[in-house]
Amino acid sequence: MNDIVSRVAAEPRVSLAHLPTPLHALPNLSREIGNISVSVKRDDCTGLAMGGNKARQLEFYLGEAHHAGADCVLITGAVQSNYVRATAAAARQLGMNCHVQLEDRVPDVDATYRRSGNVLLDRLFGATIHSYPEGEDETGADRQLETIAAQLRRDGRRPYVIHLGAAYPPRGALGYVDAAAEILSQLSEQSLRVDDIVIPSGSSHTHTGLLFGLRALGSPIRVTGICVRRSAEQQHHRVGDCAAKLASLVGIANVVGDGDIQVYDGSLAPGYGRVSESVWRAIATTAQTEGVLLDPVYSGKTMAGLLALAVDGYFKPSASVLFVHTGGVPALFAYETAFEEFMNASPTP
Ligand SMILES: Cc1ncc(COP(=O)(O)O)c(C=O)c1O
Repeated sequence: MNDIVSRVAAEPRVSLAHLPTPLHALPNLSREIGNISVSVKRDDCTGLAMGGNKARQLEFYLGEAHHAGADCVLITGAVQSNYVRATAAAARQLGMNCHVQLEDRVPDVDATYRRSGNVLLDRLFGATIHSYPEGEDETGADRQLETIAAQLRRDGRRPYVIHLGAAYPPRGALGYVDAAAEILSQLSEQSLRVDDIVIPSGSSHTHTGLLFGLRALGSPIRVTGICVRRSAEQQHHRVGDCAAKLASLVGIANVVGDGDIQVYDGSLAPGYGRVSESVWRAIATTAQTEGVLLDPVYSGKTMAGLLALAVDGYFKPSASVLFVHTGGVPALFAYETAFEEFMNASPTP
C-alpha cells in the first residue's frame, strides 16, 4: 500500500459517505463552452443528508469523536452552512446530539435565507442552534464554541468540537486525500486523461487534501482552487499552511510545493455567500445543459470560475477538465429572493 494511503487508513474514521461517488462526462456543457471537455466528480452524491464534500471530511472528525467517547458534537459556520447541516445529520446517525453555531457572515439577507435551505434541515435534525454575530472572526467563533463546550462538560456531557480556525489540525483534509486515490482509480478504469481539476477553496481542506493526495500518489494534475471566501493571495497562504499541517498530521514530508498551489478569485465578488450574475448564469447553464444542480455559495461560484478561466484561455486548447461538485444544493432554496432579480432579467442564459 502506498505510504499516504496507509497513513490515512490508520486514522480513526466512521463511515458516513456513499463511496465511490460517480465521475462522468458533461458533454452538453463541454459543447456549450467549446474549447475544453469537462467531466464532473459527483461529490454532491455522497448521500449524507443531501450529500456534499463535508461527508468525507466528517468521517475523520467524527471518527475521532467516536474514539474519544463523545456524546455531542459542536460546530460553527455561516447561517446557510452545509457543514453544519451535514454535521447535525451525521451526529444523529451516530447517536449524538449536535450544537450548531450560526455566524452572520452574509450582509443584507432576508427571512428566507434565515429560515429555509440548510437552516430548515438543521432544525429538522433537532440541532441546538446558537448564534454568533461576527462573520469574519474565526478565532472568536471557535472561542465561543469552547465556552459552550465547557458548559456542556460542567453538565456532565462529553462534547467534541470541530474547530473552524486554520490553527487546528486539518483532519477534514484526510477525506480528500482519500478522494484523490478514488479519482485516480476512476480515471484509470475509464481510461480518461485529466489535465486540470477545478475545485472550491474555502477552509481549504477539500482543495488541500485533494492536491496533497494527488502529489503524494505521484499525479501532476494541476488543481485550481476557486476562492469562495478570501482573496487569491490570502487563500494561497491558507492552502500552503494547511498542506504543511496535513503533512505533520499524517507524518510524511510535505509534498505540496508553492508552485503546486493555484487559486483564482475572479468569481468571488461581491463576496462570501453573495451571488453575482455570473454565478446565476453558471448555475442556470449547468442546470439547462446537463440537468445538474449547483449551489450559489460554492459549486455555482466554482463553475462560474471554471467558465471564466475557459474564456481567459487558462486551460490549454482541448484540455480535459474535471470539475469537483462539492454539493451545497439545499442552499439554493434560501437564495430564492436573490435569484429572482436575475431570473426576471434573463430567463434563460
Ligand atoms: C458545498 C461546499 N462546497 C465547498 C466547500 C468548501 O470546502 P472547504 O471548506 O473544505 O474549502 C464547502 C464548505 O463549507 C461547501 O459547503
